[in-house]
Amino acid sequence: MTHIALKDYTLNNQILRNRAVVAPMSRVSTAGDGIPTKAMADYYSSFAAGGFAAVITEGTYTDRYYAQAYPNQPGITTSQQQDGWRKVVQAVKSKGAKIILQLMHAGALSQHLSSTRGPSKIEPMRTMLPGYSRKQGRYPIPEAMNSAEIDQVIDGFLKSALMAEEAGFDGVEIHSANGYLLDQFITDYTNMREDQYGGSLENRVRLTCEITQKIRSAVSPDFIVGVRLSQGKVNDFDYLWSGGLEDGKVFFSAIEEAGAHYIHFASEGKGFDHGCLTRTGESLPRQAKELTKLSVIANGGLHIPSEADRVLTGGHTDLIALGTGALANPDWPEKIEKNLPVNPFDPAVFDNGVHI
Ligand SMILES: Cc1cc2nc3c(=O)[nH]c(=O)nc-3n(C[C@H](O)[C@H](O)[C@H](O)COP(=O)(O)O)c2cc1C
Repeated sequence: MTHIALKDYTLNNQILRNRAVVAPMSRVSTAGDGIPTKAMADYYSSFAAGGFAAVITEGTYTDRYYAQAYPNQPGITTSQQQDGWRKVVQAVKSKGAKIILQLMHAGALSQHLSSTRGPSKIEPMRTMLPGYSRKQGRYPIPEAMNSAEIDQVIDGFLKSALMAEEAGFDGVEIHSANGYLLDQFITDYTNMREDQYGGSLENRVRLTCEITQKIRSAVSPDFIVGVRLSQGKVNDFDYLWSGGLEDGKVFFSAIEEAGAHYIHFASEGKGFDHGCLTRTGESLPRQAKELTKLSVIANGGLHIPSEADRVLTGGHTDLIALGTGALANPDWPEKIEKNLPVNPFDPAVFDNGVHI
């Protein structure tokens, strides 16, 4: 019997050949200029050649002020960067997959900038990620963004989305997860603002929604616009939303109203249940599916075929995103189709950093 992950799916009028999507993964492999390279085009197209329906790119910085997270991270702020991406897009599309650009602002979690901005002047928890930069240790204390700087962020996301559409991407994903800027606004302990971007849940998700709205009203209707959310963060892996399902309901409805086509739920590193369930065991992706008309992507250890089957048939999600499992199996959909064993992920691939 065909595995449910191999059935096609229509996402905002675009037909995906199956349910398997490559999760965004930063590989910090540009030459420091933020311009995607030929090696990146080969890397991304290998997933398309292996049968994935879509590739979501690594987090890509959206402005040249405070957005960049890592030294060799790609950007989409100049025509040279856009041209680099154009070649990646062509390589992926020539192998039959869709490609979505993840738009990212680091906020207080930059391992590149010495002066950072965030929602509030609060030192980030824990220390920088090894492998992403020579800089290590504590993150700098950010300055709280003023309203002109917030407008600059919105403008950066908007311009980047338009450049992405012009470069041939099928859509963009707004990175509101994993502890980076938009998640810093969403999270209670990093956002102490007293303006319209702080306080209530509706206020904390406002920046994500304003960006979503601005992009939707500027791009063509078939261009996919998604939002990635998570509970855990790269500097606080086990964090769970304090209001659980109730928080989810507010965020999901606001994001739907803002015009997104999908919500992508990230679960960093310890499997679907670790990041996608609330403290009391309810499934946030399933809640998003039941409450809204949005398409839902779930993530976390879903390269294991029985896990993929469980979340897809269990009503948790429409699509699955594979991160480390895709690195170990760029041909995962083909393997599933042929009933071949799936390789476990070997973290040794990152021993020399996260370069491709
Ligand atoms: C090397 C690496 C880089 C990552 N970079 C990003 C990123 O740029 N944006 C993002 O949203 N998530 C990023 N993630 C998280 C993954 O998208 C995914 O949520 C995580 O690997 C868990 O999925 P998995 O169990 O399938 O690996 C990264 C993960 C890894 C391993």
